[in-house]
Amino acid sequence: MDIIIAANWKMHKTALEAVEFCRAIRSQEADFAGVEVLVCPPFTALSAVKAALEGSTIKLGAQNMHWEAQGAQTGEISASMLLEFGVEYVIIGHSERRHLMGEDDIQVRRKIEAALQNDLKPILCVGETETEREQGNTEKVITNQLSGALQTQDSQKLGSLVVAYEPVWAIGTGKAASAEDADAAAKLIRSYLRDKLGAKIADGLRVQYGGSVKAENIGSFIGLPSVQGALVGGASLEVDSFSALIQAARKAVAD
Ligand code: PGA
Repeated sequence: MDIIIAANWKMHKTALEAVEFCRAIRSQEADFAGVEVLVCPPFTALSAVKAALEGSTIKLGAQNMHWEAQGAQTGEISASMLLEFGVEYVIIGHSERRHLMGEDDIQVRRKIEAALQNDLKPILCVGETETEREQGNTEKVITNQLSGALQTQDSQKLGSLVVAYEPVWAIGTGKAASAEDADAAAKLIRSYLRDKLGAKIADGLRVQYGGSVKAENIGSFIGLPSVQGALVGGASLEVDSFSALIQAARKAVAD
């Protein structure tokens, strides 16, 4: 199973900037064997990035979607709109959406359901805040987020799910989780998935770590048997840092 490294560009890059990035990273993609690499640009750059990635092994993801197929949802984007641009993955329940936009578990669940119905592969984000960790509630928060998003889903359809463990206090702070903390959370996620889906399906799914990942520290996460990828914000914005990170991850897998 390839590890999966996703670039979450958040609200960065115009279509032009995104295309420049794609052109530059494509010249290095021959060195990405064993890593499934995807970029998740803002919606406005999807069309241009789709064209720029034509014939590439680098895949396209989106950062969010609405669960309705269409309707009076000003400012929202549906699954079919993403499919139109060749989107394969969609990030759902990122902590910035949960905390800044008030997205709750019910909305996250509906989005996962709609993504699966439309054959989009969801990257479900879970993770505790600093206060929740300090209060000893990390496990409870992660388990609640998983069951909030997945409890009612049809297990047979969850074979394409990716779960990203992203402690909120590590996102964009430069303070990544320790390998021990990431390992504990990834193991908890795997054990939830086994209970819910059975080992056969669950063991085929990938768990990512996210939160201040860069070339210098990715090896400590990818080196863990419990972690099969990373969701990367800041370090994915420049071609050099992203590509160095991918190479460091490959080295960690090989070691
Ligand atoms: P970061 O963001 O790598 O900048 O911490 C990760 C994320 O939000 O997915």
